[in-house]
Amino acid sequence: MQFDLARARRDTPGCENVLHFNNAGASLMPRPVLDATIGHLQLEAQIGGYEAAERERDAVEHVYDAAARLIRCQRDEIAVVENATRAWDMAFYSIPFRPGDRILTAMAEYASNYIAYLQVARKTGAVVEVIPNDEHGQISIERLRAAIDERVKLISITHVPTNGGLVNPAAEVGKVARDAGILYLLDACQSVGQIPLDVDEIGCDLLSATGRKYLRGPRGTGFLYVRRGILDKLEPPLLDLHAARWVARDRYEIRPDARRFENWETNYAGEIGLGVAIDYALGWGIDVIAARVSALAESLRMRLSEIPCVTVRDLGARKCGIVSFTVDGLSAEAIKRRLAEQQINVTASTVYSTRFDMEARRLDEVVRASVHYYNGEDEVERFSAAIAMLQDRRRSPPSNHCP
Ligand SMILES: Cc1ncc(COP(=O)(O)O)c(C=O)c1O
Repeated sequence: MQFDLARARRDTPGCENVLHFNNAGASLMPRPVLDATIGHLQLEAQIGGYEAAERERDAVEHVYDAAARLIRCQRDEIAVVENATRAWDMAFYSIPFRPGDRILTAMAEYASNYIAYLQVARKTGAVVEVIPNDEHGQISIERLRAAIDERVKLISITHVPTNGGLVNPAAEVGKVARDAGILYLLDACQSVGQIPLDVDEIGCDLLSATGRKYLRGPRGTGFLYVRRGILDKLEPPLLDLHAARWVARDRYEIRPDARRFENWETNYAGEIGLGVAIDYALGWGIDVIAARVSALAESLRMRLSEIPCVTVRDLGARKCGIVSFTVDGLSAEAIKRRLAEQQINVTASTVYSTRFDMEARRLDEVVRASVHYYNGEDEVERFSAAIAMLQDRRRSPPSNHCP
């Protein structure tokens, strides 16, 4: 069936203002998400914040059902938090590491996660090890399997990195983790909303996600999945009167469900908006979204690779909607600035976000152009023409060839 691009764009007010290829940063919200979020803020202003939450209790509770449907788990396995980092941290810092425990991760690991490994390693004596890539530039399953022993406490990888189109083979990693009975944490921040996720198929025990990126939810929203079977083995690093109950003067009891990883005060408007965003994505179908996003990204890669002095940098046997590239003689920041003058949005990704990957490829930075299903082929053309123009300007004078 033909993808209804006209409807997708009609539903996305921001399309009128910008050519938005920063969906891996924060997508343009669709109208229903905007309306639900603003509607709740207005209700809070009219009748009071606590009273609004009470009145809209069903809409607030719905986000748990929506997230559970999205990644195919149960609602009591979901904690709704303010972003992917908080979700990931709550999971990671609840794991009791001991001296000599090994944490296995991948080359494309995100900086915030790796910083947490380093901190925990320093405090506990655990060690972190980076599994090399295979010939496609994704985590080597063979090397991962070979690294397994009884000291491996955690396998923790990023599904889609912040800085490129790579999709790490999350389910193959899950198979290794399951075969060995090792805890598996998946950072799905950049994949949720653009790639179908099924936690049982993937085989992960913990999964972190954000709302504002490919799910097109409001900023300041995210969620954590915790497999039911491990819930009571993980004590959250932070507790409050929502995560636990003060049952006697000297005693508290931690909640049995995944909400033990939440805290009491929260952004209700954002949570309601996130629930609507997930429903909206499911309405299109994540399979449909994935097919459209990867086709559009592939078309962009093809056009960019035809421009002299442009190098497309994406790795992986399977690629997603993030397109990364460099232009000889122009910094990523300069490209971002020049595109912004034409109302074209991209970001620059630097070595500080993904050090192992970038160092291995001798890259300091790349331009990250990330497409979504509401972007059009005409935008891919306009974008590529804008890059070619930048490069033309760069070439005249003094040189007329790539250095
Ligand atoms: C791979 C990856 N993980 C985690 C995060 C952090 O997500 P959040 O900003 O929602 O905390 C990002 C953000 O860009 C990311 O790219």
